[in-house]
Amino acid sequence: MGFKPANRIQDLQYFGEFGGVNPSISDSSTYTFLSAKTMFDTFEGNADGCYLYSRHSSPSNLYLGEALAAMEGTETANVSASGMGAITPVLMQLCGAGDHIVSSRTIYGGTYAFLKNFISRFHVETSFVDITKLDAVEAAITKNTKVLYCETVSNPLLEVADIKGLAAIAKKHKLKLVVDNTFSPLSISPAIWGADIIIHSLTKFINGSSDTVGGVVCSTQKFINDLRNVNQGASMLLGSTMDSLRAASILKNLRTLHIRMQQHSKNGLFLAQKFEADGLKTVYPGLKSHPSHELFKSMMNAQYGYGGMLTIDVGTLEKANELMELMQNRNLGYLAVSLGFYKTLFSAPGTSTSSEIPEHEQKAMGISDGLIRFSIGLDDDIERTYHMMNACMKELGIL
Ligand SMILES: Cc1ncc(COP(=O)(O)O)c(C=O)c1O
Repeated sequence: MGFKPANRIQDLQYFGEFGGVNPSISDSSTYTFLSAKTMFDTFEGNADGCYLYSRHSSPSNLYLGEALAAMEGTETANVSASGMGAITPVLMQLCGAGDHIVSSRTIYGGTYAFLKNFISRFHVETSFVDITKLDAVEAAITKNTKVLYCETVSNPLLEVADIKGLAAIAKKHKLKLVVDNTFSPLSISPAIWGADIIIHSLTKFINGSSDTVGGVVCSTQKFINDLRNVNQGASMLLGSTMDSLRAASILKNLRTLHIRMQQHSKNGLFLAQKFEADGLKTVYPGLKSHPSHELFKSMMNAQYGYGGMLTIDVGTLEKANELMELMQNRNLGYLAVSLGFYKTLFSAPGTSTSSEIPEHEQKAMGISDGLIRFSIGLDDDIERTYHMMNACMKELGIL
């Protein structure tokens, strides 16, 4: 009955080096070989199960990678030191000088900056399109296009990508569909709808404790081998490697992701419905008023809900700043970027996580001055939280 990502995490079984219920943490940068021949074979990529050097792979990183591959339903995965440390090698692996990328225009500001300002220096050009319009996506494809890039649920506007429709276009034009699924872990599993490569910033919901940055690329064994190849692999050569201690701690946090996502989603839906009923301009994929509500519903693994991210528009940046400061003073959350924490986090995207995007382009995308992005926390009593937020809004004349 459907895809069950949390079962796949639950079903992983570990016997640590000393019989521990957690795998032992690998604490070595380099590994011994009993024969010189095996060392040579490992460098050639022909000795499965042998470790070479921890920038290439390490037991702890492989455990975490395999768990995330199980969650996303891909053959395997490669973890990295940050989400950007996953995104940038994927794009550099797939594209060389003269190639072209078609990307959603509403994506995380860092990814936007990488495409617009950085990879363009190596003559890889990007066309930014409205990802919700499949005809516009297809029209932007040229003979040099190699990659279709999007976020399942976009940062910060919460636009929803039609993964199945995009996968069909990618297949038709022989492109790789690369999907950043950071905002919707468990809720949507892009691989089952045809995405080729799924990326997460583990920094967010998956780790969930705002104590580290991390990333992952989930894909086929062949693509992950390509990324790790000692001669040609962008992950191996650019060197954004996660530390083993962090991999072990993220693996432990991953096991409660299904419980956390259900609570984030329950609280997100509750607040979104209340805010909308109060007359605030509210965007949340779980609201019927969201233009892609039905699309999200058609792709979702229902029990994990519509996620913990929502936006409201309070009109001006001044009001947005006043509200965020007041909510922080009332201990309703933190004025901070990032997402997926147990406390609510709020920020104004135009002046923070999307500030890499020039102002006129922000306007064209719909990032308005008064926009506040919320990552809703795990509050047990969300009704209490709502009443306190509502009081802040009334105090500032927003309501
Ligand atoms: C959707 C999305 N993708 C990628 C990233 C980058 O991840 P990291 O900060 O872990 O490098 C972020 C960070 O905010 C993000 O929101």
